[in-house]
Amino acid sequence: MLVSCGDNLALRLAGPDDLAALIDFNTRIFDERITDWAADLAGGRHPTVQTCDFTVVEDLRDKKIVSSVCLISQTWQYDGIPFQVGRPELVATDPDYRRRGLVRKQFEAIHARSAAKGELLQVITGVDWFYRQFGYEMGVKLWGSRCVNGMDVPKLKEGETEVYHLRPATSGDHEFIRDVYDQAARGQLFAALRSPEEWDYEFTGRSKANTRRREWLVLADSEGERLGYVQYLACLPLPHLPLFRISQVELKVGVGYLNVMPSLLRGLWEKAQAMYASGELPCREIHGLELALERDHPLYRAIPKNLVRDLKPSPWYIRIPDMIAFLSKIRPALEGHLVGTVAEGYNGELKLNFFRSGIQLVFDSGRISAIEKWQPGEAWQGDARFPDASFLELVCGWRRFEEMSESFADCWGTHEAAVLLDCLFPPFHGKVWVLA
Ligand SMILES: CC(C)(COP(=O)(O)OP(=O)(O)OC[C@H]1O[C@@H](n2cnc3c(N)ncnc32)[C@H](O)[C@@H]1OP(=O)(O)O)[C@@H](O)C(=O)NCCC(=O)NCCS
Repeated sequence: MLVSCGDNLALRLAGPDDLAALIDFNTRIFDERITDWAADLAGGRHPTVQTCDFTVVEDLRDKKIVSSVCLISQTWQYDGIPFQVGRPELVATDPDYRRRGLVRKQFEAIHARSAAKGELLQVITGVDWFYRQFGYEMGVKLWGSRCVNGMDVPKLKEGETEVYHLRPATSGDHEFIRDVYDQAARGQLFAALRSPEEWDYEFTGRSKANTRRREWLVLADSEGERLGYVQYLACLPLPHLPLFRISQVELKVGVGYLNVMPSLLRGLWEKAQAMYASGELPCREIHGLELALERDHPLYRAIPKNLVRDLKPSPWYIRIPDMIAFLSKIRPALEGHLVGTVAEGYNGELKLNFFRSGIQLVFDSGRISAIEKWQPGEAWQGDARFPDASFLELVCGWRRFEEMSESFADCWGTHEAAVLLDCLFPPFHGKVWVLA
């Protein structure tokens, strides 16, 4: 693949000979906190990424890489149905070559590559608004952090002894952690799934200084029985933040957060202070814990409200280029969502007008017998209308239909369509642990 970008610039897939230059380029555009991440992705350590999953734009005059994007392939599930996802990352252009459409051109190539791999959805974080230009819309949430100051962590009462303890996970705990994660993922509308190779990469595969590396603690009772785990960021990506970032807390079925919360917070705060004292946490000061968990994580309900500080949730931008293919993939889940709702056993058609295009769903006693292209002739046609890529917000459970029709005057639906759409696409407040 070689695509001319004009002015002696050419777009192509990266090859093994580009490895050193790619790592150097990413370090120069971002900083040295990206170096090991880029090296793991491009250098063959990563289970789903190879050097050829990077596109590069080269200045043919001096053979210099001036822009690059990579694609991290992965598997997610929607209510139990696995599907393939592509995550564009390390999106970067040399300052001297910006605003010449080099990222736009590479996104066309990355999207084609993602489609060829059978990926039904693309997901990205990063520069606000920028990716909307390439068909992305606000989708699932990244996290809704709450902070607990170290001084607010509940103290042990006089004469009380700690019942629950945190200890570093060992290789003997990996299967337990996987099981607890999988059990939690099964209850989520959206979740990322990991193959055995991807789990190995999470546990031991990343380079020590890769800022995406996680570590785990196991929560156990006084008999040593494992009750759950904590996942934390081993290398702080933002050293100016005086917080110890916890990225997951999961307890196994039957263990309540209210019981373990005080010990858990004490254990985490002790761990944070010990890591800070030993220089393992490279922040200038340590003030508390950042719980970067899903917005409605049960731990948040167990912690008294006056002890936590709320941080705004950040979303992923999502792209679903072939909505008919995606809806067809998740059709059994959509049918399942109608059961037990007012739309159970629904008969009829639902015409969705996206202004330039449209989709018709046909329902037969609660089964979806067709999901097909429908071309609206006029803006007013159909049972519900969605401007731009706003339908994605509903599909991802980010907003309800009424919220959308209040936000966008050109989003509208009949009463029946509005009720049906909310039954088909339930809300989702979870957090997806996206493969990095
Ligand atoms: C953001 C970045 C990747 C854009 O690269 P680029 O090659 O200049 O992007 P393009 O020229 O392909 O941009 C496509 C369009 O977006 C516009 N655009 C470029 N940067 C933009 C920005 N920061 N905000 C809004 N629009 C922007 C361009 O003008 C162009 O619009 P047009 O097609 O209507 O002319 C580049 O500025 C960069 O490397 N920044 C530092 C690293 C970074 O933040 N990466 C993203 C982290 S996920």
